Amino acid sequence: KERTLSIIKPDATERNLTGKINAKFEDAGLRIVAQKRIHLTPAQAGEFYKVHAERPFYGELCEFMASAPVVVQVLEGEGAIAKNREVMGATNPADAAAGTIRAEFAESVGENSVHGSDAPETAKEEIAYFFSGLELVG
Ligand code: GTP
Ligand code: MG
Repeated sequence: KERTLSIIKPDATERNLTGKINAKFEDAGLRIVAQKRIHLTPAQAGEFYKVHAERPFYGELCEFMASAPVVVQVLEGEGAIAKNREVMGATNPADAAAGTIRAEFAESVGENSVHGSDAPETAKEEIAYFFSGLELVG
């Protein structure tokens, strides 16, 4: 089965939406095989999102991701990467399909409640950034 890295972002943890978001993942057939609550430093957020370093919103994004705790998690299932992104909805909540996490909970294109890996190679890297093999319980 495929695995993907998910982050419940500060806007969502601040509003106590962790349980509601996890219910959406589980209802879609994704199993939460690892999960922890951490508070990133701006430097750690910057390292995680370094592919966006040249984008105009990079500074804002790193500051936001370090503004409150996040929940980092590994989701497992058939086609987990694509399935997770489907459950998340479009980056901008204004474009997100009804019933998706971002349509229901996201506040803006920046404060959009969740992150999900976008491809197998990035999923592997992102999981290794936050979790050791011992923490992944399938
Ligand atoms: P992630 O799962 O978080 O990677 O979202 P994504 O793959 O749907 O979007 P993308 O990788 O293009 O952008 C990464 C993150 O940067 C987004 O989730 C937003 O939090 C933030 N972001 C993207 N575009 C904007 C923008 O125009 N303004 C701001 N402030 N943030 C943005
Ligand atoms: Mg992305």
